Amino acid sequence: MHMTKVVKVNPLAPGDMEIEEASQIIKKGGLVVLPTETVYGIGADAMNPGAVRRIFEAKGRPQDNPLIVHIANIGQLSEVAADLPEGMSRLAEKVWPGPVTFLLKKSVCVPPEVTAGSDTVAVRMPAHPVALKLISASSTPIAAPSANLSTRPSPTSAAHALHDMDGRVELVLDGGSTFFGVESTIVDLTSAVPVILRKGAFTPEELREVLPGSVIAAGAAGAPSVPGTRHLHYAPRTRLLVASDGAELSSSSTRLSECMHVCVMCSSESADELDRRVDRIVMGSRGDLYSIAKNLFGSLRELDRRGADIGIIESFEEKGIGYAIMDRIRRAAGYATADTKTISSLFNGAYPCS
Ligand code: TXA
Ligand code: MG
Repeated sequence: MHMTKVVKVNPLAPGDMEIEEASQIIKKGGLVVLPTETVYGIGADAMNPGAVRRIFEAKGRPQDNPLIVHIANIGQLSEVAADLPEGMSRLAEKVWPGPVTFLLKKSVCVPPEVTAGSDTVAVRMPAHPVALKLISASSTPIAAPSANLSTRPSPTSAAHALHDMDGRVELVLDGGSTFFGVESTIVDLTSAVPVILRKGAFTPEELREVLPGSVIAAGAAGAPSVPGTRHLHYAPRTRLLVASDGAELSSSSTRLSECMHVCVMCSSESADELDRRVDRIVMGSRGDLYSIAKNLFGSLRELDRRGADIGIIESFEEKGIGYAIMDRIRRAAGYATADTKTISSLFNGAYPCS
C-alpha cells in the first residue's frame, strides 16, 4: 500500500516542479499516473524490471499482456527497438508525437517483463506536453499501460485513474481530461504489410495516408489470436447491450423500462427520440464522433454509478474514429446486442415486462 499523492499540472504548459517530483519517483523505480492525449497511463521506468513488475501488480494485469513503451524523442527509438524497417524515421516524423503505437523488433535493452517475453516491442511518442516532459526529465523511456484496473474502462480523467489506483501508485499527475478519450492505434510493422492490431485515436484513413496498404487485422473484430485482444476489456459491471439502430434503441429501452431501471447511453440526437421516462447518459453529438470518443469511457463508469439493471448503448458509424468507438462499445458489451431475441434469452427465454 502506498500513499497516493495527487498533484495538479497544467496540461499545456506543465511546471518544472511537478515534473521534477514525478521524475524523481520514476528514477527510483516508483509508479506515476500521467495524462496522455489518449487516456491516463501508469508510468514506470521501462528499463527497470522491478518497476515494471509493480505496474502489473497495481493493475492486476496478467503477466502475458505486454506494455507500450513511451518515448519523448526519436533518439530513444533505437534504445528500445532494433532492425527498424526502412523509412521508419520518416514515418515517425509524420505521425509522432501522436496516438499511434508501432510494433517493432525489440532491442536487447528492453527487459522481458515489458514485452511479456515477446521479441517485439510496442512503442509510441505521446502528443501530450505532460507525458513528453516527464519522459525527458526521467531520462528513460516510460512503460505505461492504461491506468485502470485490468478489464475496467480506461481512465480519461485523473478522478477515474485515482478511483482505480488509489493506494497502488506514488503519484497521480492531474492534467484534466485527456484529449481523445480512446487509446492509441496499434500498428504492426513486423509483418509483410502494416497491420492495425487495435483500432484507436489515429484513424485507419489517417494511417493509410502515411502507410498506404495498411490493413485492419481480421482479429481486430474480436478473434482471440490478436495480441492484446485475448483479454476481457472495458467492461462496466452493469450488463450492457448494443442497439443496432435508433429504432431498436428507443423500442427496447421503452419496453424494458416498464419493469426495470434501464439506462441508455447515446448521442444528444438520439436522446431527443427516447421516451422521456428512460434514464440516459448523453455522450456527445452523433455529428461529431470525437465528442463521443472523448466521453465514452467516462460514460461507462457513470453507467455503473447509476445502478441500472441494464444499459443499452447506441451504435455509431464505422468511419474515422468511429472504428475505435464501435470496437470499444462491442467489447464493453461482451458483443451482446439489444434485439428482442437476445433480451428474451437473457431472461430465461421470455421477454420481461410483458
Ligand atoms: O493510448 C494508449 O496506447 C495508452 C496510453 C497510456 O499510452 N496505453 C494503453 O496501454 O492503452 P494498454 O497496456 O492498456 O494497451 C496496450 C496494448 C495491449 O493490448 C497489449 O497487449 C498490446 O498493446 N501490446 C503491447 N506490447 C505488445 C507487443 N509486444 N506485442 C503485441 N501487443 C502488444
Ligand atoms: Mg488498457
